[in-house]
Amino acid sequence: MPNKEMLLIPGPTPVVDPIYDALASETWAHTDPRFVSIFSNSLKLAKELFHTDGEVFVVAGSGTLAMEMAVVNTVAPNEKLLVISHGYFGDRFMLLGQAHGIQVESLQAEWGKPVDPEAVRAKLAEGGFKAVTVTHVDTSTGVVADLDALVPVVKASGALFILDGVCAAAAIEEDMSKSYGDPDYRIDVVLTGSQKAIGVPPGLAIVAFGPKALAAREAFARIPGYYVDIKNWLPIMQNPGKYYATPPINMIYGFNEGMEILMREGLAKRYDRHAALGQAVRAGLNVYGFKPLAVKGAEAPTLTCFLYPQGLDDLSFRRALADKGVVIAGALATLAGKACRMGHMGNVTGEIFTKAIRIIGETLQEMGFAPDINAAVKAFEAAYGDNP
Ligand SMILES: Cc1ncc(COP(=O)(O)O)c(C=O)c1O
Repeated sequence: MPNKEMLLIPGPTPVVDPIYDALASETWAHTDPRFVSIFSNSLKLAKELFHTDGEVFVVAGSGTLAMEMAVVNTVAPNEKLLVISHGYFGDRFMLLGQAHGIQVESLQAEWGKPVDPEAVRAKLAEGGFKAVTVTHVDTSTGVVADLDALVPVVKASGALFILDGVCAAAAIEEDMSKSYGDPDYRIDVVLTGSQKAIGVPPGLAIVAFGPKALAAREAFARIPGYYVDIKNWLPIMQNPGKYYATPPINMIYGFNEGMEILMREGLAKRYDRHAALGQAVRAGLNVYGFKPLAVKGAEAPTLTCFLYPQGLDDLSFRRALADKGVVIAGALATLAGKACRMGHMGNVTGEIFTKAIRIIGETLQEMGFAPDINAAVKAFEAAYGDNP
């Protein structure tokens, strides 16, 4: 790993050398056939990542832009959107929908818990919802949504299923060709950014539209947006030699390399590695008295929000860790000061985490705690097995 720092926040994640090299390549014209071929390849691989027979859009922007593209192309002002929220980023869909004059209703879980699928069923029975947003992993809480439970409930209502995969894509399966119980019950939109489990720096909004979501956009004469309008981007995604707005050439080089890396690893292997990594990090830090906020069964493979052992000062702890090269994030909202968030996703290895777990133990020791560092490392290694 070339990052000097162990960047273990919930994104951006550590960037590996081949991606840095790609980013630093010479900037060609966006119409240069060599660039067009790289862009086309990255789009082909992105379609494979989501297994979509629809279209993937990759544009300059962040995950929030991808959220906006997903919503405004499928839900018109005054139509109804149901937001299923497991935390801060779920709530963002409410604000975003309201900004566009959409009638937003929400089901918000207590932080750390998932929304009950039965509550979703009851809400949808009220009728009239055009789409439902679900945050696959909410980065504020480390809660992972149960797609097996939610997709059939949402799709049975006739609403479109929009999945925010910003903290999940390329680490947890998001397969738009998969049917959940009925051949028609599929995920309609998946969105993400480049900076989390894909392992590329921030800068790209990535959003996959399945056929029903594309049809939803087709049914509108116009939408309240220009840069976000997938109709403007569609010709470019089908032929990246065409112009609509200048693509971020070097970011596309980096993205293409990132997609090649994850395809070389293999999606199934990558998903298994992340599942093991999440469990292993939690097993290791459990030895130090760090407890996941997420309830059992809802702990995400990609990120954990850890409640601190009693008496640990958040700022001093994170500052001391950062001085030793391990960067983790603070918690949000009412959890600020009481918890930290650790990302465990992307192009990372077990070696990074055994080192980080040791450094966390040493830091705790310096702060007057009595951590069993060897036991923590052993717990990590036992749960991680022979993953790389
Ligand atoms: C689950 C989730 N959705 C959306 C976003 C917004 O993405 P961005 O910060 O790239 O705009 C984030 C950011 O961390 C996120 O974690």
